[in-house]
This record gives sequence, C-alpha cells and structure tokens, in this order.
Amino acid sequence: MTTKTHTKPKTSEKTKEFKGKVAFITGAASGIGEETAIRLAADGAQVVLVDLNKKTAQALADRIIANGGEAAPFVADVADQVQVKAAVDFTVSTYGKLDLAFNNAGIGGPAGLLADIDIDSYRRTIDVNLNSVFYGMYYEIPEMLKAGGGAIVNTSSILGLVGTGTAVPYVAAKHALTGMTQAAAIGYAHQNIRINSIHPGYIDTPLLKNMDDNSRKALMDRHAQGRFGTDAEVAESVVFLLSDRSSFTSGTQFVVDGGYTAH
Ligand SMILES: NC(=O)c1ccc[n+]([C@@H]2O[C@H](COP(=O)([O-])OP(=O)(O)OC[C@H]3O[C@@H](n4cnc5c(N)ncnc54)[C@H](O)[C@@H]3O)[C@@H](O)[C@H]2O)c1
Repeated sequence: MTTKTHTKPKTSEKTKEFKGKVAFITGAASGIGEETAIRLAADGAQVVLVDLNKKTAQALADRIIANGGEAAPFVADVADQVQVKAAVDFTVSTYGKLDLAFNNAGIGGPAGLLADIDIDSYRRTIDVNLNSVFYGMYYEIPEMLKAGGGAIVNTSSILGLVGTGTAVPYVAAKHALTGMTQAAAIGYAHQNIRINSIHPGYIDTPLLKNMDDNSRKALMDRHAQGRFGTDAEVAESVVFLLSDRSSFTSGTQFVVDGGYTAH
C-alpha cells in the first residue's frame, strides 16, 4: 500500500493568487467594482481603476496603496470608445500588459413603461451598459492575446436573464451583454481567453440609493433568500471567474442572486 504524504507549504512560500497579474476594472470606484478592486489588489494584482468619478477613483487608489497594494485611477466615460481605448492604453503603458478585465460600469437607466421612456435616456443606457462592454473587449482582447491569454468578466444582471416591465433599456442592454459575452467567449476560447458574465440579483450598493422603502421590501421578497445581496458576495464570484480556479468556465452566465431567478 502506498501512503500519500502532503507537505504543507511554509508561509513564506505562499504566493498571492494574482501576483504578477494586471487587472482593468470599469466602474471601479463604487459598489461591486470597488469591492472587486480591493480584493484583487490585496491578492497581488496591479489594478487600473477606471471610473467617471475622479475623486472616488483617486480615493480608492490611495486606500489600496496605503494597504500595500498597487493601483492607478483613470478617469473615463466608458460610453466613449476613444476614452475606453485610452484607458486600456494607460493600463499597458503603466503596468506593461493586461491579463484580467472586469467590464462592470453601469447605470440603472430610466424607469417607466416602454412608450413613456425618453429616447435619449434609452440611448445613454445602451451606450453605458452595453456598448461600453463591446469597446472594452475590443481593446482588451488584443492586449490579452499579446500576454498569452486572459480572463474577462462582464457585469450583466438577473435582468440580463429575465425581464421587468419598467426598466426596458436596462433589460435590453443586459440581455444583449449576455449574448455578446457568449459569442466572444466562443470566438476566443482556443486562444486562452475566458469570458463570462456575472448576473447579480439586487445588491445593496449606491445604485439603489433612490429606491423607497416599499419598493426595497417588495424587491427583497422576490429573492428566495428574502434580502438584497452585498457587493462582497458578488466580488467573491468575480474574483473566482478571473482566477485560474475557474479554468474550465467560459461563456457562462454566473448567477449570484439569492434565488431570484429560481422561481
Ligand atoms: N446594485 C445592483 O442591484 C446591481 C444588480 C445587478 C447588476 N448590477 C450591475 O453591477 C454594475 C455595478 O453596479 P453597482 O451596483 O456597483 O453600482 P454603483 O453605482 O455602486 O457603481 C457604479 C460605478 O460606475 C461608475 N460609472 C457609472 N457610469 C460610468 C461611465 N459612463 N463611465 C465610467 N464609470 C461609470 C460610477 O461612477 C460608479 O463608481 C453595473 O453594471 C450594474 O448594472 C448592479
């Protein structure tokens, strides 16, 4: 009989999971993006924090650096192709390459029935929530190919899988993002790039700040677990999808929704 022996690595031999990796995050300065940035940086990644909000992006970079991590803020509107290219170029010129991308920036968009929605708000929601992700992957993928591969996570939503009557532009953008992610994942699967979408239920971030108490309660009840999720619970899955631990996961819809879509 052979006996397997396991040698426990000494603490000094333990390396951080994302050491040597360069990560690009949009919508990095708040909520889900912020929590993911903090985790990646704590685990050794060099992180570019792309956001519209200069002040919060700089504050987050300062916090990460104060905790011993590496991060650089970059102010960009992800709805603008030129600014997204500049953000990816900044990443490569600052840290030398690109391995990981989290295309996450998004807005709630206008509420109301389809025919009541202002058309400019519809267009803006599609630009920020959908076209931004196309621009992101468009410039990220060639850099990842140069680096020998990579992993991308795109933030969709439960509303990229099911509908709701009063958020038509958001639902349209997030459903299209789901399909775009699948198609891109198939296209680059043989070139060592994995691409997945994440589908949070309602998450208690500043995105929900304008919701009144009755709406919050009604929406919580639609989650089988009877509550909203936290940005930390979503970030946990994003980090997993960006890591080599999910090496056989690509083109999938990764749902983190407390059972919202289970019924
Ligand atoms: N909070 C939820 O309930 C929930 C549920 C499902 C999906 N999501 C999605 O998760 C993502 C992150 O949402 P969150 O809840 O963390 O939101 P949040 O409002 O806390 O953070 C979003 C960040 O994106 C930035 N941003 C917004 N528009 C931008 C633009 N045009 N260019 C660059 N940066 C921009 C904001 O400045 C902010 O820092 C979004 O795509 C959202 O649709 C959120």
